[in-house]
Amino acid sequence: MRSPKDFFTPLALGAPDPVREIPLRPSRMIHFFDPSNEKMRAKAGDMARDVDVLLGNLEDAVPADHKEAARNGLVEVAKSTDFGDTQLWTRVNSLDSPWVLDDLITLVTEVGEQLDVIMVPKVEGAEDIHYVDRLLAQLEARAGLRSPLLVHAILETASGVANVEEIAAASPRMQGISLGPADLAASRRMKTTRVGGGHPGYLVRTDPAGEDVTQGRTTYQQDLWHYTVARMVDACAMHGILPYYGPFGDIRDVVGCEDQFRNAYLLGCVGAWSLHPKQIAIAKKVFSPEPSEVAWARKVIAAMGDGTGTVMIDGKMQDDATVKQCRVVAELAEQLAS
Ligand code: GLV
Ligand code: MG
Repeated sequence: MRSPKDFFTPLALGAPDPVREIPLRPSRMIHFFDPSNEKMRAKAGDMARDVDVLLGNLEDAVPADHKEAARNGLVEVAKSTDFGDTQLWTRVNSLDSPWVLDDLITLVTEVGEQLDVIMVPKVEGAEDIHYVDRLLAQLEARAGLRSPLLVHAILETASGVANVEEIAAASPRMQGISLGPADLAASRRMKTTRVGGGHPGYLVRTDPAGEDVTQGRTTYQQDLWHYTVARMVDACAMHGILPYYGPFGDIRDVVGCEDQFRNAYLLGCVGAWSLHPKQIAIAKKVFSPEPSEVAWARKVIAAMGDGTGTVMIDGKMQDDATVKQCRVVAELAEQLAS
């Protein structure tokens, strides 16, 4: 009987060895564009200069009669644009759609060397990743690619969330996972009609003061996505891949967007999607540690010497565990500076 490991064995005929090599290049914002749109294609080079990751979207938000134009448009952009240090990703159509097979065949064959990561939507379990992994190995072998493409899953179905640990572990190609709050809300039958972000009705209220239980009580909106982001972060950390918050659809609400991105950053995410140029700057700011945080982290690391024992700094106790947290912040700052 074949073991699951056999699924990841490269094909004999010259397929690249799918050893995981997650790019250390930053991916604070994954900037979506529609390659079926000629104006967007013309701006791809400029967009690439402003972002860590440029993603050609072939899935939702691209109408059915533009699917082929989007696929061909992405090939054109990949062939004609100098991306420098910016990564080029794509989001292909979902595995139950009539378009995904042509997406994968065309992109790997035509521009497999230019693409870094393939984002797969609506992943339900490890079997979806196994399928993509095997197909990519076949296409890479046929195209003679020198390095394997990486895979990123969107967590946007109730089954996906239930299986998030096995998805994270499903292939050495796995680069990361993003929360897809809009599809996930529908799959869970939540009562929202938005793309990510909060809802004014999902709140906690302070206790009543005295007899009047309805008036003058403060309310605080809660984060609808806390549970899923925390589960996703744990699954990614356990398997050494990267977690991301996904889209925030209310482009005008820059405050809400920044808050949602920051919650995700503080919980362990490394980036989020940007759907509009306004959100690029927000993601860059939020997913880069503040200079004061970095200075503090370096101070603790220096004071802790070999990293064991305790020291008091400004009245706060530091020990082996706080120095580990500080290393996370200091290493992130170094990575972003390099
Ligand atoms: C993203 O694809 C989402 O459904 O939120
Ligand atoms: Mg979706």
